[in-house]
Amino acid sequence: MSTLPATLPGGTWSLGDLTVTRFGYGAMQLAGPGVMGPPADRDGALAVLREAVGLGITHIDTSGAYGPRVTNQLIRQALHPYPEPLHIVTKVGANRDEQGGWPPARDPESVRRSVNENLKNLGLDVLDVVNLRLGNAQGPQPGSLAEPFETLAGLQQQGLIRHLGVSNATAEQVAEARAIAPIVCVQNMYNLAYRQDDKLIDLLAEEGIAYVPFFPLGGFSPLQSATLSTVAARVDATPMSVALAWLLRRSPNILLIAGTSSPAHLRENVAGAGLALSDEERAELDKIGDLARVRVKPRVEVDL
Ligand SMILES: NC(=O)c1ccc[n+]([C@@H]2O[C@H](COP(=O)([O-])OP(=O)(O)OC[C@H]3O[C@@H](n4cnc5c(N)ncnc54)[C@H](OP(=O)(O)O)[C@@H]3O)[C@@H](O)[C@H]2O)c1
Repeated sequence: MSTLPATLPGGTWSLGDLTVTRFGYGAMQLAGPGVMGPPADRDGALAVLREAVGLGITHIDTSGAYGPRVTNQLIRQALHPYPEPLHIVTKVGANRDEQGGWPPARDPESVRRSVNENLKNLGLDVLDVVNLRLGNAQGPQPGSLAEPFETLAGLQQQGLIRHLGVSNATAEQVAEARAIAPIVCVQNMYNLAYRQDDKLIDLLAEEGIAYVPFFPLGGFSPLQSATLSTVAARVDATPMSVALAWLLRRSPNILLIAGTSSPAHLRENVAGAGLALSDEERAELDKIGDLARVRVKPRVEVDL
């Protein structure tokens, strides 16, 4: 059984004036199957959220589209009134349809409505960070974000949002957003095997902007790699621990929002992310991304 560290691995990061633990928690998979409807085990979902805060995690990632509304309502039920250090990052830019799809909702009216719904369901007067989610299930797509992002910047000026970010975005969209208003984070798909954003991560690190990988453990298809398993066996850790430890060491601006519906997995991930990896082990793990780059792009099964 792993021993929990006194402080969370990776220390803290500043999202603007908000300090968060680099080890955060992604709440998406607390909703029902397909991220639709309520969880089968509501008490279990509430317990995971309370465990996260109990472990000292001060960054929870969510979206009004999870459920829809379900995840935000679970967060509110489990944790409201929120402890002062806790910061909740949410997203706008997609709705849900009856088939469980994620149609875009980036017109100004939808963006405003979504911000207001997030406020209501989370029980907040001001949202800490709102990411504008772009692209689609295939990943980031080119195109201007000016209209929805200017709408969010307007809501920020009205005092409804502290900080802004973008998600599922191209490097060009990140630059376009920054020309409209400051951003504190970019949330894109990235993990040991899917490393399209390597250059972007380094650029954002120089600018003091957080990079928050979604699907850090592979999402709905957990990471599987012979190299990962070999390194994990050698250092006497689980492959998930090694994947998280690699991410924390990849760049200081990387924040973790690994998801789990299990308190045991959450504790295991906290304990494992602090694992020390030698330069040789990191070089070996880097090869997973090099190999994956020449293969087909992994399928993204949900798009928010
Ligand atoms: N911006 C976007 O478009 C976007 C898209 C997707 C996700 N997100 C965000 O990113 C967060 C993370 O994504 P994610 O949760 O889908 O994927 P993930 O963190 O890559 O993986 C979660 C999966 O890993 C499993 N897992 C976690 N710890 C484990 C452990 N120690 N051992 C074995 N299995 C383990 C979980 O299963 P168990 O429940 O059994 O532990 C779950 O199935 C989401 O919560 C969401 O906030 C954003």
